[in-house]
Amino acid sequence: MHHNTFSYAFVALVAASLGTATPVEKPSVVKPFKINLSSEVPRMLKLIKENKLPDKPEYPGVGSSFGIDLDVLKDLKKQWLDDFDWKKEQDAINKFKHFTTKIEGLDIHFIHEKSADPDAIPLLLLHGWPGSFLEFVPIIKPLTAKNATSSTNKPVSFHVVVPSLPGFAFSSAPPANWTNEDTASVFNTLMTSVLGYKTYATHGTDWGSDIAYSLYGSFNSTVRASHFAFIPFFPLTPDQLAAENISLDTDLEKFEEGRFVEWSLTGNGYFVEQTTKPNTIGLALYDNPVGQLAWIGEKIIDWSDPRAGSSPSVLDHTELLTGVSLYYLTKSFVSSAFIYAQNQNGFRAQYTKATTDAPLLFSAFKYNVGFWPPAKVAEVGNLVKYQNHDFGGHFPGLDNPSALLEDLREIATYWA
Ligand SMILES: *[C@@H]1O[C@H](CO)[C@@H](O)[C@H](O)[C@H]1NC(C)=O
Ligand SMILES: *[C@@H]1O[C@H](CO)[C@@H](O)[C@H](O)[C@H]1NC(C)=O
Ligand SMILES: *[C@@H]1O[C@H](CO)[C@@H](O)[C@H](O)[C@H]1NC(C)=O
Ligand SMILES: *[C@@H]1O[C@H](CO)[C@@H](O)[C@H](O)[C@H]1NC(C)=O
Ligand SMILES: *[C@@H]1O[C@H](CO)[C@@H](O)[C@H](O)[C@H]1NC(C)=O
Repeated sequence: MHHNTFSYAFVALVAASLGTATPVEKPSVVKPFKINLSSEVPRMLKLIKENKLPDKPEYPGVGSSFGIDLDVLKDLKKQWLDDFDWKKEQDAINKFKHFTTKIEGLDIHFIHEKSADPDAIPLLLLHGWPGSFLEFVPIIKPLTAKNATSSTNKPVSFHVVVPSLPGFAFSSAPPANWTNEDTASVFNTLMTSVLGYKTYATHGTDWGSDIAYSLYGSFNSTVRASHFAFIPFFPLTPDQLAAENISLDTDLEKFEEGRFVEWSLTGNGYFVEQTTKPNTIGLALYDNPVGQLAWIGEKIIDWSDPRAGSSPSVLDHTELLTGVSLYYLTKSFVSSAFIYAQNQNGFRAQYTKATTDAPLLFSAFKYNVGFWPPAKVAEVGNLVKYQNHDFGGHFPGLDNPSALLEDLREIATYWA
């Protein structure tokens, strides 16, 4: 362990001293990390077992229109107890190379998988809520492998870095006054002075898109391409689109706009709660795994393609339970909900163009909960490629990994 630690610290030190004439910063020590939450599992299982749900729904026949369906919750709970093995999931997750380092006082956990290809593009993948680094598991290894862009047949591979956002999973909870801009600065430090990459590309979704957007505009000499599956600007209502003379041309676009309308009318209660009173919901569910399953599970189900779990989606119920277990076992429910309160203007009403000439690529997925037509995405950056997929939703790394993989490879077409 000490030897690995030393060599990384040494690399960071050399990179820092070569890169600048100003006094050398104290290098961040990078430590290899293995997940072992086994000691927390018995209590989780005990609480799940002791939890009582009603025998019958109080209001039958409403399905999931007023929140998670009781039968769905019961099925998930049963699977969690009878047919879910945290140890097995943990072993699979531990096959990746995990590390931690300290930056600006925070412990930052990340996966770092390097390509064998020396020309690989460094790529930072940024998740959101209620996701985690697990959202990208299916695409990490394929991204490191040498392949080709589908549009130009250009060779492409990536060095992949997947951090846990501060307050999520194994990254420490930041102070109350922390913002996504602060996280962007920490991640730029991670990519440059800690890992030694001079330039890199990013992908962001959900809150990760706010961090990625901040990186895109504020670190324009190091972030040289950005792919988004979501942008940190409120989508327009149909009336607002009409007022701007933006017409939706396809059934797919009309459907996607409808998904946003539905989210804004009946799907954003969690957003208001977590923005205004995150401690109330946070503490209510802190030691309540089935409560977290209902709160998080409802969103994972509603925000993803209903064909979830059927190819190309790998977002089945085991994946959902792994995600919720990670929140419960790492005790990060409160701090992850807090990101909404910490970033009250994270999703902006006013569209602004980032000060960068770096290419921006965007992918829309049918069942996502926000929709931005190309004209709106073009207002926030140097849009070079816009793709729309009729399969997948808010977690494309899980519910359409092959499309996300292919779209990310397109970065190579524009990488200089
Ligand atoms: C995980 O931690 C437990 C103690 O909490 C220990 O018994 C076990 O050996 C550890 N497993 C691994 C794979 O390190
Ligand atoms: C390139 O990627 C595609 C789709 O991800 C895969 O089917 C194919 O095997 C890959 N080719 C190589 C040479 O790895
Ligand atoms: C934010 O909070 C931390 C500790 O909670 C404090 O040390 C720091 O000075 C605060 N920063 C700002 C900009 O207020
Ligand atoms: C929309 O189109 C109408 C009619 O062509 C025009 O008068 C108006 O200025 C346009 N609005 C915008 C925001 O472009
Ligand atoms: C980076 O941003 C600054 C303003 O913040 C701008 O002056 C500069 O031209 C930008 N550089 C690139 C390469 O876009």
